[in-house]
Parts: sequence; C-alpha cells; structure tokens
Amino acid sequence: MSTTDKQDTYRSIQRSDKEVLVFKDTGKMADFAVKQWKKLADEAIKDRGRFTVALSGGTTPVLLYQKLARRKSFPWDKTFIFIVDERFVPYESDENNYHMISRTLLCHVQIPAKNIFPISTLEDTPQAAAIMYEKKILSYFRKTDGETPAFDIILLGIGDDGHTASLFPESDALNESRHLTAALSPSDRSKKERITLTYPVLNNGKNVIFFAAGKNKSTTVKQVIENTNSCLPAANVMPHNGRLVFLLDEDAGSQLS
Ligand code: 6PG
Repeated sequence: MSTTDKQDTYRSIQRSDKEVLVFKDTGKMADFAVKQWKKLADEAIKDRGRFTVALSGGTTPVLLYQKLARRKSFPWDKTFIFIVDERFVPYESDENNYHMISRTLLCHVQIPAKNIFPISTLEDTPQAAAIMYEKKILSYFRKTDGETPAFDIILLGIGDDGHTASLFPESDALNESRHLTAALSPSDRSKKERITLTYPVLNNGKNVIFFAAGKNKSTTVKQVIENTNSCLPAANVMPHNGRLVFLLDEDAGSQLS
C-alpha cells in the first residue's frame, strides 16, 4: 500500500508492544481486515497447508463477516473456523455467536462442514460444553492435554468493562492457566452462562486482532493500549510470540495520543 493510500485509510499509532491502526470508519476497518485475512491465509496455507481462525461474536465484526462472505475465491476449503466464546443458549437464539457467524459468513461460502468447530450448547452444563470444546481443539491440532495450539488469527472484541472473549473482570476464568477453555456464570444473569477460550490460547495466537468501534469504547481502549489498567481482562492479552493488533474506528481511538 502506498503512503498516500495508507494515510487515506488509517493512521498508525506507534507502540513497541502492539500495532494500533485507527480507521475513518468501520467499513474501511473491515476492508483492511479482509485484506489481512487473505494475506495471513495465503501465508499459513503455504507454510502449513491450513489456516486456523478463532472468531468472536458481538456486533463489531458483523460487517467484516459480511464482507468476507463475498470473497468466494478465498481458500475456504483450507480454512478452519473455531469460536472464541459462546453463550450457553440454543443455536436458534439470537445471542448464539455461532448462529450469528453462520448467518453472516459461513452460510455464504463454500466451507466444508468438517472445517467448522462450533461450541456445542447441547451439553447438560456449560462446564461439560467447555470440556468437550477443549477436547475438540486438542484433537484437531493433534495436541495432548496440557499443550496449547497456536491459531493463525484470533479475532477479539472489547466490552466497555474491558472484557474480551468471555473473560470478564474478576471472573475465575481469568486465572485459568492450563485449560484451553473455561465455563463461567457471570453474576449479572443477563450476560448468560458462557464458555470461553482462555488466556493460554489467546496468548499463544500467531495474530491476535482486536476489533473495536464506538465512542463508548474509547476510555477502555486507551487504558488497554496504554497498559494503564491491568484489571481489564483485555489488557492481559499479550501473545508470547505472535502479533498483537488493534483495529479501531475514529471513535474508539479518539482518546489515544
Ligand atoms: C461476545 C463476545 C464479546 C464481544 C465484546 C464486544 O459478545 O460474543 O463475548 O467479547 O466481543 O463484548 O462486543 P461488541 O462488538 O458488540 O462491542
């Protein structure tokens, strides 16, 4: 991308530990993410023969998923989709992340069903669903208990309270240091019981990409990016060997200096 194109598209904020790109609007942010997706997919497939991605729910990535859905020529047959977190609600529920990702992206591209790894909410309890999902991940990556896979992309959102995935402030799931998944029952019942990937997985990602938009996120985004509040769960996502990237719209990035 030329300098002019780059200036027109985003401004880049220099940080030693992360890449921060601020876009004029969410459309440009999603277009950039689509290009990154293709680049990383091509590299991963060239190196390892497959491209592994863990996707978040929420509202911010919807436009990205819709734009990806139009890319029929992307290497979907070698792309493997996992879910970052899930509410323990039936697939039919509007709150089910896999349902949203299916509706916006997966139903529109030629991806084999065997390449898709939803978090089952048909188990008796969220705990059982979390255990089942960990087994699925270990088996796919041919890892044994205690080993951690490295996803090519982990796409994360940020809540106003600093949560990411379903890692909420003060939840026990924040302390999980061995298992790949955790179940949790937020004290605020409206948040629903959930299953989430844990820090060991998030921090082992090759490309961990935060996607955040809106003025309501700007204070939290500033604290997370400037490392000024380690109580915010999103602030503790620091991949050991991977890239940490923040894609923000002007509103979310408005408090960054
Ligand atoms: C979910 C995710 C959550 C989400 C953030 C940001 O809702 O499924 O658990 O971590 O990514 O809450 O959500 P928005 O994109 O809607 O702001």
